[in-house]
Amino acid sequence: MTSVLKNDLLLRALLREPVPRRPIWLMRQAGRYLPEYRATRTRAGNFLALCTNPELACEVTLQPINRYPLDAAILFSDILTIPHAMNLGLEFEAGEGPKIARPVRTSADIDNLRVPDPTQELRYVIDAVALIRRELQGRVPLIGFAGSPWTVGTYMVEGGGSKTFGAIKRMMYEAPRELHRLMALLAKATILYLNAQIAAGAQAVMIFDTWGGILNPAQYREFSLHYMAEIVAGLTREAQGRRVPNIVFTKGGGAWLVEIAAIGCDAVGVDWTTDLATARKLVGSQVALQGNLDPSALFAPPETLRAEALRVLTSFGSGPGHVFNLGHGITPDVDPERVAVLVETVKNFAIAPGA
Ligand code: CP3
Repeated sequence: MTSVLKNDLLLRALLREPVPRRPIWLMRQAGRYLPEYRATRTRAGNFLALCTNPELACEVTLQPINRYPLDAAILFSDILTIPHAMNLGLEFEAGEGPKIARPVRTSADIDNLRVPDPTQELRYVIDAVALIRRELQGRVPLIGFAGSPWTVGTYMVEGGGSKTFGAIKRMMYEAPRELHRLMALLAKATILYLNAQIAAGAQAVMIFDTWGGILNPAQYREFSLHYMAEIVAGLTREAQGRRVPNIVFTKGGGAWLVEIAAIGCDAVGVDWTTDLATARKLVGSQVALQGNLDPSALFAPPETLRAEALRVLTSFGSGPGHVFNLGHGITPDVDPERVAVLVETVKNFAIAPGA
């Protein structure tokens, strides 16, 4: 855990310190598009068995790092480990996404929830973090993560994925105080969870707010951003003598970048619907930006993919504070060879001298 970090580009870029080139990692870099991932998942039996086995979670975390010269590893896990630890009956049915057997719908359901102790019910995640740090031997930093209270809450209330979010929106309009109780509980659980990941060796942390973008601006502020601000304020800021930068990503949050940047986070994730030049004008020098290639660009022929990646790199402009990423996760039908083209393109993009 104490081995010297050989490549700290990600940590420096997230803190807006100068770097010789832009670091790159990809959301969902470990996953079904990789044949080696599918093989390990088969060995584990299913996705949840993979997440709850630290050795296998570690193996899968390292797969993309061994295949591509990426600048960061991200813990292999899921945002639904917290509802799993709350004993809501989480299952992943092949090809169907997550299902929660006992959804949270009433005041009594919320009363029955307990904040998990990360060193007990989520021990397998903490053990995976420590093991991954050991196995990485300082090659690249390890990113820990959690879902935002709003996004995790959508799965808990809906009982799985949703297109309309009818159940949680109904709760928001009918019983806003109850929804606030749920969000406050999740924020508390998330602070403990992320700080336990940091204590075990996570060198940066990211909050995934995949569904914040389905809210209107006032609701986003009240039910999503407010609780992410609470989490950011509660995070451990330094570990092993180094700052632990945090990243806040709201998919569909382009209109709220100024407000997101103001919660005190180090970096803001941007999806592909906002140009990075525009994003940068909005947030100024307050935060670093992470993003924002459309994941579908990985279907393009290599020449087009290169051009799209260069467009993202140049749209940020010069100066520090850009971490290259996709605007959302890699999809399972991507050709691993295209990912190699993307990583190589970004790594060969040198920052102009004096920039
Ligand atoms: O980025 C990484 O490589 C780390 C791994 C990671 C996973 N899930 C693995 C996973 C991360 C960071 C997540 C976060 C996550 N999980 C989010 C937020 C980020 C996002 O993509 O929006 C959300 C909304 C979830 C909930 C979740 N997990 C859903 C909706 C699904 C089903 C959809 C799907 O792609 O099948 C999952 C399953 C899941 N999480 C898989 C992986 C690799 C696929 C499981 C499989 O192997 O079949």
